[in-house]
Amino acid sequence: MKIKSVTGREILDSRGLPTVECEITLDDDRSVVSSVPTGLSTGDFEAFQLRDNDKKRYFGLGVLKAVKNINKKIAPLVVGKKPSFSDADKEMIHLDGTDQKSNLGANAILAVSIAVAKAESLVQNIELYELISNKLGIKEPKLPIPMFNILNGGLHASNGLCFQEFMVMPSKQVSFKKSLEMGVKIYQHLKLLLFDAKHVVSVGDEGGFAPFFTGKNGLPDLEAFDYLIKAIKFAGFSEKDVKIGVDVASSQFFDDEEGVYSFHAHEVDPEELIEFYEKIISKYPISYIEDGISPMDFGAWKLLTKKLSKKVQIIGDDIFSTNEALIKEGIKNKIATGSIIKPNQVGTVSEALKSVDICRKNNFGIVVSHRSGETIDTFISDFAVGANSSHFKGGGCARGERIAKFNRLLRIEELLS
Ligand code: PGA
Ligand code: ZN
Repeated sequence: MKIKSVTGREILDSRGLPTVECEITLDDDRSVVSSVPTGLSTGDFEAFQLRDNDKKRYFGLGVLKAVKNINKKIAPLVVGKKPSFSDADKEMIHLDGTDQKSNLGANAILAVSIAVAKAESLVQNIELYELISNKLGIKEPKLPIPMFNILNGGLHASNGLCFQEFMVMPSKQVSFKKSLEMGVKIYQHLKLLLFDAKHVVSVGDEGGFAPFFTGKNGLPDLEAFDYLIKAIKFAGFSEKDVKIGVDVASSQFFDDEEGVYSFHAHEVDPEELIEFYEKIISKYPISYIEDGISPMDFGAWKLLTKKLSKKVQIIGDDIFSTNEALIKEGIKNKIATGSIIKPNQVGTVSEALKSVDICRKNNFGIVVSHRSGETIDTFISDFAVGANSSHFKGGGCARGERIAKFNRLLRIEELLS
């Protein structure tokens, strides 16, 4: 069975801004569709998202150039061939010829890469997660522990919270169905608490609530943790059942010239920020800190890991950007205990798999993640299961583009049982 056509298209993401969709039709007229997400707190090492920069359309954020690259340059590489994402990725990387995919655009390349993978699983008559696990030589695909981002801050909410994501997760692996129910229960109880305190209960980019906290000793982030604890208890769980994870996204408040973090009214150096983490870890049941230090502050990552990795997972997102070489460097220098994996940070499914492989071989944590600007594509759910990712970041318990991924995980759990 061969690929009959490849069509790129400009569609909208969950923020109502343009992104790339790719549709592949096979010789027998079966078709698959993929679409790619967009991050807001992006790292400097991420693959290049090609935008039109035509201010007359969508504030310059149109993706017609990327779409044209799919239709005119990439389609001829794959049309008439058997779907193989490994082969397509190699050819696209070669045609692009740059480190960050700045010619064709990583948004164009990834949309095709995912669509070809979907077509490949269709032709092989296997589930997408099986295609991923087969590539990695994993015999038993398994469901990840979900982390629910139930309070949004930072760039995702503009509500005065410095930390970007306040997440809750089951403390140990239970069925995904049960985990989801737990997340929803805490989420709905948090809503009631916020409502009672006359906070707005509208949600941020990732589906968590985005209230404006005025703060405890001038630190709204501490008030956010207090709300999480209250919601966990109100929902009938204990600190033993549920843990808290936080994506600090600290590059957003790091001044790389001065080497300090502007944390609300305070300017703190990395040592002081790490002391602050030690304090909150001793007070709240935190088991996960992501991007606690900025990628531009490499030395402090080592200190963070040395001081806190016995108590919590230290996960790098922007600093690794799903890049195999950067992850290798991080493992060698012991600067974290695991990496976020976001296929669109690197631009092909094959390269995201290489990053997973290097983590697996070194016993480094793997956390597959969505982006803040998402679509209803559920590829990352299959990717997380196929890659045996220990945790999964899919957002809060609302917004269709987040729920679509959780619902796909429910279906996969059924298929695996
Ligand atoms: P982003 O945020 O998708 O806006 O980059 C998600 C994250 O930092 O994990
Ligand atoms: Zn992050």
